[in-house]
Amino acid sequence: MSGVRIVEVGPRDGLQNESALIPLDVKLRFVRSLADAGLKEIEATSFVSPKWVPQLGDAAELWPKLPEGPLYSALVPNLKGLERALDLDVQRIAVFTAASESFTKANVNMTIAETIDQFRLVIARFRHPCRPNWARGYVSTAFECPYEGRINPKKVLEVCEALIGLGVDEISIGDTIGVASPAEVRVLGREILAAFGNQIIPKITWHFHDTWGTGLANLSAALDLGFRSFDSSAGGLGGCPYAPGAGGNLATEDVIYLLERTGISTGVDLDSLSRATEEVLACVGRSPAAKSQIASLGRSSVG
Ligand code: HMG
Ligand code: MG
Repeated sequence: MSGVRIVEVGPRDGLQNESALIPLDVKLRFVRSLADAGLKEIEATSFVSPKWVPQLGDAAELWPKLPEGPLYSALVPNLKGLERALDLDVQRIAVFTAASESFTKANVNMTIAETIDQFRLVIARFRHPCRPNWARGYVSTAFECPYEGRINPKKVLEVCEALIGLGVDEISIGDTIGVASPAEVRVLGREILAAFGNQIIPKITWHFHDTWGTGLANLSAALDLGFRSFDSSAGGLGGCPYAPGAGGNLATEDVIYLLERTGISTGVDLDSLSRATEEVLACVGRSPAAKSQIASLGRSSVG
């Protein structure tokens, strides 16, 4: 099986939902540990309103101090966020919308159409021939919305089409509240392939949350369909403040264990990764909860 790409979203999605403010130096050590463990792409923070997500209000302080090595990206909701990002020479951004109107309104106070109009301006301003620039578009609530219930895959295709029309470099399909089953992933995955053809595969990333424990099975289902790119969060940290019921993200440790055990080399050291969240977990007063992390920490303490 050919290479699999992992985008670590722990410093952004993993931390945004934590109510206890995590100090900047703890966040920086977290990112450094992720980089040292071998993660090559990290979504580091968000240039969203600090009134809406106070935990990431330190984005402008954090960005210039990020350790060299990985490719870093950041969430940008609007032109104001883009200007803040451009001031820091951010070269990889993620705009974010959803397949449900109610979630989009709760999350960014816009309709889906308004997000697309806003992103058109954001991407036009962001693209520059003399500066590297890469943009991801998220489609959240791709399976179910906490306010509207099940989502028709056709709605996801519509939003993907709108994002492709904006010229994003990739689309991340989000199971924001972590409820999907592999059967649903197969249905949506096949619909995406039927609508856009196999050439869309390198442009699709799956973003699973693991509220009900189906995240890894969902990743396997997407792998079987040929998809090769996945978001995950160290320690299974995560959630969305505007999606009631959203559990943690699929844990990067679980992803690494599954891939390595399947014979797919990831370049990530599982034991180092399992220790990367220790300080953050201590800050928020929780113990490790991801299965492969617990097993790896147990193995290290025995060994
Ligand atoms: P709004 O209140 O409608 O915006 O929020 P506004 O334009 O009326 O501005 C209100 C205030 O915020 C103003 O300041 C603006 O200047 C300021 P004031 O005059 O009151 O002092 N403001 C900003 N400040 C800093 N950075 C900005 C910015 N924009 C406005 N970019 C807004 C609209 C989009 C700003 C707000 O709703 C927001 O920031 N939402 C972000 C919510 C968020 O981050 N959610 C979590 C990420 S999405 C997610 O987790 C899902 C994902 O993981 C995938 C999945 O799991 O499916 C990606
Ligand atoms: Mg998420």
